[in-house]
Amino acid sequence: MPATVLIGTQWGDEGKGKITDYYAERADVIVRFQGGNNAGHTIVAGGETFKFHVLPSGLLRPGKHAFIGNGVVIDPKVLVDEIGQLESRGHSAKNLRISDRAHVILPYHKMLDGAEERLRAGAKVGTTGRGIGPAYQDKAARSGIRMAEFVSPEFFKARLSENIAIKQRILDAYGFGEKLDEKAIFDEYSGYAKKLAPYVADTSVLLEHAMTQGKNILLEGAQGTMLDIDHGTYPFVTSSNCVAGNACAGAGVSPRSISRVVGVVKAYTTRVGEGPLPTEQENEVGRKLLERGGEFGTTTGRPRRCGWLDLVVVRHSCRLNGIDGIILTKLDVLGGIGKTKICKAYELDGKKTETFPSTMAMLGRCKPIYDELDGWADMPAQEMVALAKKGYSALPREMREYVRYVEKGTGVKVEIASIGPEREATIER
Ligand code: IMP
Repeated sequence: MPATVLIGTQWGDEGKGKITDYYAERADVIVRFQGGNNAGHTIVAGGETFKFHVLPSGLLRPGKHAFIGNGVVIDPKVLVDEIGQLESRGHSAKNLRISDRAHVILPYHKMLDGAEERLRAGAKVGTTGRGIGPAYQDKAARSGIRMAEFVSPEFFKARLSENIAIKQRILDAYGFGEKLDEKAIFDEYSGYAKKLAPYVADTSVLLEHAMTQGKNILLEGAQGTMLDIDHGTYPFVTSSNCVAGNACAGAGVSPRSISRVVGVVKAYTTRVGEGPLPTEQENEVGRKLLERGGEFGTTTGRPRRCGWLDLVVVRHSCRLNGIDGIILTKLDVLGGIGKTKICKAYELDGKKTETFPSTMAMLGRCKPIYDELDGWADMPAQEMVALAKKGYSALPREMREYVRYVEKGTGVKVEIASIGPEREATIER
């Protein structure tokens, strides 16, 4: 059976964790293919809340296999901790596999991330500080350490030593006085390597076997299209390609194996970090979305910047990812907010544009052109779940009109509407 790719269409935090978990029910293998512990998924299952940063969401479903692909950068300390948390709550990680080609995040990557941000002064990216950019820099510079080497003590020792010699010089030049203790790092990280070694495998080969046996594969994107290093709001992006095209390279599967791409769209816009955000609402509406939507970063706890839904962004994503179906999340958050607005185009230097500009200077000059829609009443969570059980037609008329507007504005069907964090508050049409 071919693979489905699940992608965030905005700046991440579209509710992909819950949706991946939902799709995971039908998948046999769930694979993460890019990013690292800059991501954060919150999954509510059986009354329990789980927050994962590296582990693929599917591990919560018994019998499912979860792979961390070669395109991911892995902080071993965080991964060991997450596996421990999972096991301490009675779940098993025995079906986890980690690509032998995935790169490792080491303490110097985090130090460099912090130092580079400090030196950028007025031009900060607003990174999560998890060492993601420097780890991908090493990968591109061909000096990174991959899992296969990491779990082999003599290789790890040699590669660590080479790297530390260089990184210490860079840190010295940055001038923050940070010192790398090679022995301490080796001792601590060898411990993690030992714990992770049983999970390391050639996940590309395992995926091929799974596909030959007719298994369903779900390739789970992290972050979102607007954080893609090529197609997002550069330089306010992450250091990997978040678009569906990278699912193949980052998981080690051929483009021929992808049969479907689904895109998660949050019913409004949020982002963390810096950069222009045309539909941002620095007012009562923004504050309500922040509070009602619980819009605080899963990884850093930072409040997210909030605004109206931007269809220029979503169309950009639909084109880049070839989205077959939209999953519209957090519709419940807009309840009780009054009239809602959706941005259908921008005005840039006096002209209307429907495509996303390439530079942040241009984006900063874009003024959203909105359509206003009728709002719907706020409802308690239990009522939302009850409505979801009755099916799509039971939803308030205004909510269904909002959904229809999204479909018209993107040309893509909304296949699933999510009206609450619970698994049961998900309506398939
Ligand atoms: P980095 O990925 O830590 O280098 O951060 C680069 C940018 O991507 C920053 O604006 C981060 O806030 C943002 N970012 C990274 N991962 C996520 C995510 O999972 N959700 C939302 N924003 C993210």
